[in-house]
Amino acid sequence: MRFLVALALAAVAAACGDDHTHAARDGHDHTHKKREVPSVKLTPPSRPLTWGSVNILHTTDSHGWLLGHQKASFPEPNYSGDFGDFASFVTHMKELAIKKDVDLLLVDSGDLHDGTGLSDGFPSGGVDAHASNEFFKQLPYDVLAIGNHELYIYNNTLDMHQNFAPRFNGRYLSSNANITVDGISKPVGSQFAKFKTRKGREVTALGVLFNFKGNDKNTTVQPVEAMVKEAWFADAIKDEPDLFLLAGHMPVSRDKWPLVFNAIRTLHPTTPILILGGHTHIRDCLQLDGRSMSLESGRYMETVGWMSADLPAPKGHGHRHNGEDHGSGHGPGTHTKNITFTRRYLDPNRVTFEYHTGRGKFSFDTLWGRSITTGLKQLAKTFDLSFEFGTAPHDFTINQAPYPSNNSVLSVMAAALPVALTVNNTRASIPSIMITNSGSLRFDIYAGPFTKNDQFTASPFADSFLYISNVPFSVAAAVLPTLNGDGANNRRRDEAVEAELWARGYVGTRYREWLEEMARRDASLGIEARGAAANMTLGYVTSDACPGVGDDIPHAPLEFHSIPDFIASASPDVADDAPIDLVFVDFIESQLLGILNSLSKDKVYTTADVSLYTEVLATQALGIYAQQAWN
Ligand SMILES: *[C@@H]1O[C@H](CO)[C@@H](O)[C@H](O)[C@H]1NC(C)=O
Ligand SMILES: *[C@@H]1O[C@H](CO)[C@@H](O)[C@H](O)[C@H]1NC(C)=O
Ligand SMILES: *[C@@H]1O[C@H](CO)[C@@H](O)[C@H](O)[C@H]1NC(C)=O
Ligand SMILES: *[C@@H]1O[C@H](CO)[C@@H](O)[C@H](O)[C@H]1NC(C)=O
Ligand SMILES: *[C@@H]1O[C@H](CO)[C@@H](O)[C@H](O)[C@H]1NC(C)=O
Ligand SMILES: *[C@@H]1O[C@H](CO)[C@@H](O)[C@H](O)[C@H]1NC(C)=O
Ligand SMILES: *[C@@H]1O[C@H](CO)[C@@H](O)[C@H](O)[C@H]1NC(C)=O
Ligand SMILES: *[C@@H]1O[C@H](CO)[C@@H](O)[C@H](O)[C@H]1NC(C)=O
Ligand SMILES: [Zn+2]
Ligand SMILES: [Zn+2]
Repeated sequence: MRFLVALALAAVAAACGDDHTHAARDGHDHTHKKREVPSVKLTPPSRPLTWGSVNILHTTDSHGWLLGHQKASFPEPNYSGDFGDFASFVTHMKELAIKKDVDLLLVDSGDLHDGTGLSDGFPSGGVDAHASNEFFKQLPYDVLAIGNHELYIYNNTLDMHQNFAPRFNGRYLSSNANITVDGISKPVGSQFAKFKTRKGREVTALGVLFNFKGNDKNTTVQPVEAMVKEAWFADAIKDEPDLFLLAGHMPVSRDKWPLVFNAIRTLHPTTPILILGGHTHIRDCLQLDGRSMSLESGRYMETVGWMSADLPAPKGHGHRHNGEDHGSGHGPGTHTKNITFTRRYLDPNRVTFEYHTGRGKFSFDTLWGRSITTGLKQLAKTFDLSFEFGTAPHDFTINQAPYPSNNSVLSVMAAALPVALTVNNTRASIPSIMITNSGSLRFDIYAGPFTKNDQFTASPFADSFLYISNVPFSVAAAVLPTLNGDGANNRRRDEAVEAELWARGYVGTRYREWLEEMARRDASLGIEARGAAANMTLGYVTSDACPGVGDDIPHAPLEFHSIPDFIASASPDVADDAPIDLVFVDFIESQLLGILNSLSKDKVYTTADVSLYTEVLATQALGIYAQQAWN
């Protein structure tokens, strides 16, 4: 641990030498020379960004992907920019903003934990994402919001409270998420922030979390419905700023943003409201009215969001008063007309970053950006993230291959469970069915070395496995279909399971709906349109509710196959009444008991029948399997 701290300090020290004008001097860095020539030829963006008087660069749900996407299989190279490249990008964009004499804000909507080895590969005794957040902290974020992944483990939340929030001087926002320290409940960061932009615009910012229920003891998440009734909230939104900036870890569609929006609109019918959401890992945009835009910018550093707004010049402090009478008597002046907004979803790679900053590959890097890249690579080395469990024989994907099939990650997991969970297990010889949720698999596995980092990206949830012994095989075998809501009778239960997964923070269903929709839209295109699409590279094809085209680079959609919510190991070949072990991922215990009792005629199952099956966690299963199967 002491070494880690030293490492982080070294990175910060290096960052203090932020002097991009001398970037070219640093021509001897071998790792960087290589990076300047991408392994695959990348397509540049389709058109320059539209700048307004207020502009926002948005990241969300980065989940530790600070070294970018490093695999050669498509569409990975499209997202190959790392956080050092992003830092250089931000530096150049800030310079452009000054040249254009406009505001540029940098906003993040949370979920910094759980997702790669950089965040999760720390040595035992450490705290998740503590080391990777040292790099995040170097970026000049104007506003950040807390995500649900900051709240699963008390120590992670405490780390955000004690070590992360202070760096941002009141701009790390947790409007409805508290931590209890020494018996006192207080915001993890701050409930709101008021500040002035470089151009003198007054901003009132909030950081709102969706109604998350999977948070750890001694942290609290207040429902959005209750938050908007708090006295502090009324107080915070009372005075009219030049704009409201609502950052938050909450999807821009089909969630509770209208509650916050309407509360503000009641007092301020025309004040610009800029919403930066997250959590469902999709690209999305909508406008709640003509003077507001809501943007959500994907996941895993696969997207950097851009929003521009043509806001009037700041009115200045003296001219403002509370309870204003906009609209009455003003006529259709600049104050009540629709605001011109634009949004764009950038594929974060060096070609994109160079294009939008007008830089070439030799004038793009800043010393500061390079120091971040170097520091992240050093961290990967310290955590031994390139340790190889085996070699994946080909690509395995979550949604691009049917389940079950040879190319499905889910099929790999279904095969891995009986291998991994029975290692050093006295119950190994007893027939079993092992059930886990497909949402525990979060990323594809690509051909080539399957490393410690790949294990974290594919399966980052450290869930345990429980079991119930002596379940008749026929009953155990009926559990999976019921969990998946197969059959008309199970609809209600299916919804209960879905609600439970949502409250615990699983977003796979919404994300997959989005992928499915883009694949379906593509299939319905005419021959001509599909011919043009044949020229495009694979990736996200966004169709949102905002005007114009959102994707910065046009893509053709990836193949899509729907998958069940739960998967299981192959059934043992035993008689219907043979007693077997029913093994399952820990958090579905109560649903599973309910289902079991609805299926079982002879016995009532309770938590007393449930025990820990193995010390092996979900995060370790693929690695243990790869060591045996892929060597
Ligand atoms: C995306 O990745 C593919 C495959 O590696 C590559 O051919 C393509 O040029 C990339 N597209 C963009 C827009 O970067
Ligand atoms: C949380 O951190 C404290 C000290 O930092 C440590 O003593 C404790 O074991 C940690 N708890 C968990 C569950 O990791
Ligand atoms: C967490 O809450 C429990 C009671 O609910 C209390 O005993 C414990 O001290 C708390 N831990 C911290 C770190 O505040
Ligand atoms: C968080 O703490 C603040 C300050 O103690 C309190 O006013 C607020 O109601 C708390 N919010 C939640 C969600 O517990
Ligand atoms: C203003 O924006 C709203 C909401 O986006 C839209 O319904 C309306 O048609 C727009 N009005 C004009 C005049 O463009
Ligand atoms: C799947 O893999 C197995 C074993 O490698 C092979 O025998 C089988 O032909 C494959 N099936 C398909 C459809 O490729
Ligand atoms: C199983 O036990 C052996 C010997 O004690 C140990 O080396 C190995 O790490 C264990 N495997 C797992 C997955 O716990
Ligand atoms: C594909 O791109 C090539 C080269 O840019 C172009 O000549 C061709 O017309 C394109 N094909 C379609 C179907 O758009
Ligand atoms: Zn997320
Ligand atoms: Zn989330």
